[in-house]
Amino acid sequence: MRVLVTGHKGQLGRQLMEAFLDQTVCGLDLPEHDICAYPQIVQEICSREPELVIHAAAYTDVDGCALNPDLAYTVNGLGTQHVALACAKLGVPIVYISTNEVFDGESRRPYLETDAPRPINPYGYSKWMGEQFVRELVPWHYIVRISWLFSPGGNNFPAKILRAAKEGRPLAVVVDEVGSPTYAPDLARALVELVSSKRFGTYHLVNEGVCSRYEFARATLDGAGLAGVPIRPMLLRDYERPSRPPLYSPLRNFAAATALGIRLRPWQEALAEYLGRTGDGLAAS
Ligand SMILES: NC(=O)c1ccc[n+]([C@@H]2O[C@H](COP(=O)([O-])OP(=O)(O)OC[C@H]3O[C@@H](n4cnc5c(N)ncnc54)[C@H](OP(=O)(O)O)[C@@H]3O)[C@@H](O)[C@H]2O)c1
Repeated sequence: MRVLVTGHKGQLGRQLMEAFLDQTVCGLDLPEHDICAYPQIVQEICSREPELVIHAAAYTDVDGCALNPDLAYTVNGLGTQHVALACAKLGVPIVYISTNEVFDGESRRPYLETDAPRPINPYGYSKWMGEQFVRELVPWHYIVRISWLFSPGGNNFPAKILRAAKEGRPLAVVVDEVGSPTYAPDLARALVELVSSKRFGTYHLVNEGVCSRYEFARATLDGAGLAGVPIRPMLLRDYERPSRPPLYSPLRNFAAATALGIRLRPWQEALAEYLGRTGDGLAAS
């Protein structure tokens, strides 16, 4: 199968290129290709004749999106419309990578795939726009929501915590923002299985388990042999940043786990592998 990955140079994109190596896989990313450039991007995608498109490219700087919402809507909304239009023209399935930030964070239980989105910040709204374009334009879609992505080599939450600790900077992390970490190598393998099922629809693919940012940071430092490094617990309302994240947004993988037996291992196990691969877990022992 010929697979095209948008955003193939990004954190998830790199893992997808590896996971789909058995297929004929190609990528498309900035600066060579801009998903906002219409109609060129549609022509470019069509010219490669993919049989499946995985759309991972996005403007992922959540605070940048809050400061420049129109850019967020252009890249994550209209850019996704262009990718979906190419898939519609070719008659091929699309996998759209979406986010926990489409939800408002006011739930009392982990979000199910069918819960009603209500984004509360421009990044979340732009990704919700992308979901709607995909649903409107491509009947053969997988919309896959993920959250708190981390991967070796990525500029993610555990990487930032480790960097700060090693540089001796004081750490303060919020205790009341709760979510589901997603390890990109686990996600990429789960996507290989999902697309072979032909069971189109909306999915939540995250590692099993729920934690606060504080617990995620603590587990990262403990796993890296830095248990002695203190973290000051703080509340989200005291953390000044341009974007307001949903407070409670764990995703429940119900559909893929129940219908297809696809589930990602507990986040603690994935974190241990991450620390081993980055050398941090090994350095600790
Ligand atoms: N990271 C998370 O915690 C998280 C959580 C939930 C959902 N997601 C979603 O998961 C997907 C992958 O995230 P990620 O962390 O792998 O993101 P990433 O590392 O930022 O990678 C995104 C890639 O898309 C590229 N890109 C940005 N604008 C583009 C454009 N106009 N045209 C073509 N390519 C463009 C980026 O290029 P530049 O680097 O040059 O800008 C980058 O290579 C995204 O759809 C994101 O919304 C991520």
